[in-house]
Amino acid sequence: MKILMVCLGNICRSPLAEGIMQHLADENGLGWDVDSAGTGRWHIGEAPDRRSIRAARNHGIDISKQVCRQFKRTDFDEFDHIFVMDRNNLSDVLDMARNEEQAAKVKLLLGDKVVPDPYYDDSLFEPVFELIENGCKDIIKGLR
Ligand code: 4NP
Repeated sequence: MKILMVCLGNICRSPLAEGIMQHLADENGLGWDVDSAGTGRWHIGEAPDRRSIRAARNHGIDISKQVCRQFKRTDFDEFDHIFVMDRNNLSDVLDMARNEEQAAKVKLLLGDKVVPDPYYDDSLFEPVFELIENGCKDIIKGLR
C-alpha cells in the first residue's frame, strides 16, 4: 500500500503525517510506504519546519531527513490513497485529478474535520501532532 500525505507547504503538517503514519505502519508490520507533498512550491528542497521536527522527536519519531516536494499529477498513479489536511488542500488536489478514479483516492485525513495550519501559531504543533496521530490510527483500522 502506498500512501501520500498532502498539505499546503509540506513543511509542517504533512511531514508529521508521513512520519507518524510510517511509524505506526512499521510498528504494525503492514509494509506500507508513506510519502508527503505540498500543493505549494515555496519550500521545495527544504527540511521540515523545526517545530514539526521537535514535536515528532518528542514522540520518538525522526522526520528531520524528509525533503519538501510539490504534489504532482503522477502522484495519482503512484499512490493508492492521498490524504489531505484541510479543505483548501482537498480542492487544490481534486482540481488536478483527471478522472473519477483519481479523485476517489483523495480524502481528508480526519474524515470530516480539518487539521489546522500551525505555521503562524507555535502552540498548535503539539495538538496538530495528536490530531494527526489519531487520524492515522483510524485510517489503519479502516484499511488493514
Ligand atoms: P503546512 O504549513 O501546509 O502544514 O506545511 C505551511 C507552511 C508554510 C506555509 C504555509 C503553510 N507558507 O505559506 O509558507
